[in-house]
Amino acid sequence: MSEPLDATGSSPRARAVIDLRALRANLQYARHRAPGSRVMAIVKANAYGHGLLRVAHALGGGGRGGDGADAFGVACMSEALALRAGGVGARVVLLEGVPDGAELELAARRSFEIVVHHDEQVTLLERAGGAVPVRVWVKLDTGMHRLGFPPQRARELHARLTRCGAVREVAWMTHLACADDRCSDATPRQLERFRASLGDLPGERSVANSGGLLGWPETHLDWVRPGILLYGVSPFPGRDAAQERLRPVMTLQTRLIAVKALCKGDAVGYGGAWVCPEDMPVGVAAIGYGDGYPRHAGNGTPILVNGRRAALIGRVSMDMIGVDLRGHPEARAGDPVVLWGPGLPVEEIARHAGTIPYELLCAVSRRVAVVTRDDPES
Ligand SMILES: Cc1ncc(COP(=O)(O)O)c(C=O)c1O
Repeated sequence: MSEPLDATGSSPRARAVIDLRALRANLQYARHRAPGSRVMAIVKANAYGHGLLRVAHALGGGGRGGDGADAFGVACMSEALALRAGGVGARVVLLEGVPDGAELELAARRSFEIVVHHDEQVTLLERAGGAVPVRVWVKLDTGMHRLGFPPQRARELHARLTRCGAVREVAWMTHLACADDRCSDATPRQLERFRASLGDLPGERSVANSGGLLGWPETHLDWVRPGILLYGVSPFPGRDAAQERLRPVMTLQTRLIAVKALCKGDAVGYGGAWVCPEDMPVGVAAIGYGDGYPRHAGNGTPILVNGRRAALIGRVSMDMIGVDLRGHPEARAGDPVVLWGPGLPVEEIARHAGTIPYELLCAVSRRVAVVTRDDPES
């Protein structure tokens, strides 16, 4: 029998259940794997679709210290300001830095730390008055070739930045391009470039994302910067959360809104892209690309109906998907459907949709209601 999706819910539409116990357990696991490092929890893009403030508060963002994150990493000023507006007093790092003097001043006033990755940002700091100096993370490009200075400029940058009245302290970071590949030699090469260019320059160092944290202990250094692993997703292609001892944080769920008895030869959904090979029951679940369920998920993408596996059939519509209910003779309209979560790894769904779990989590749309679970451990 079906149950309401939450205490009040009678709506059959999609919900994302966010398990804050799992989130905290993943942070503790990160600490266990990198015991000598501080943790900058990456919460950009609405905490990878899990809710910026919900996640920051659950990870100790009130500035209480203890077991929580030591800092939060965000992409831009609006995300940083949203943290402060939501009462998060913890350290916040702007991972793309600031584009102009106005944002630099704002960052200083709100005690945000800034990444500096190109010359215009150094010039901004040199010209700034510096009534309230900021902590700066200099980003070196050791091989990702996205943001960052050539590593051989580290010494010159250190000299310039430490002369700036607007700079309180200089730390160093780089970003790994291939940490999700445990066999690639790109990570050791990036790390070596980072170490060699810095030598004995003072300042904390940060290299590891989730892949580095779990797969490359030598990258841990002073600060690790996990994102995806906090949300209970494996950073390694072909491996899921359970294999990495992570607990999925998000469950995306909905309900069947119709069950039909179709005949052999009946075509299902737009374009008639899937044709029933025999007389069979077909379900319609209330979720689609308008909710963030991937349009490119193909026939056979697994779905849980009443906790048991079934398969997606036909094209994903804006609000609905078709479900092959052969093997589910008991299924009825109103029955619960899980699109991903514990028991159905989002990593597996991403493979079926030709994408990565990051994209699926970030894409969950505002139409999806969010329910938070934070019950005591049973
Ligand atoms: C600079 C930086 N550090 C850390 C992360 C976290 O990466 P991941 O989610 O793979 O752990 C990101 C995410 O893209 C990033 O841009």
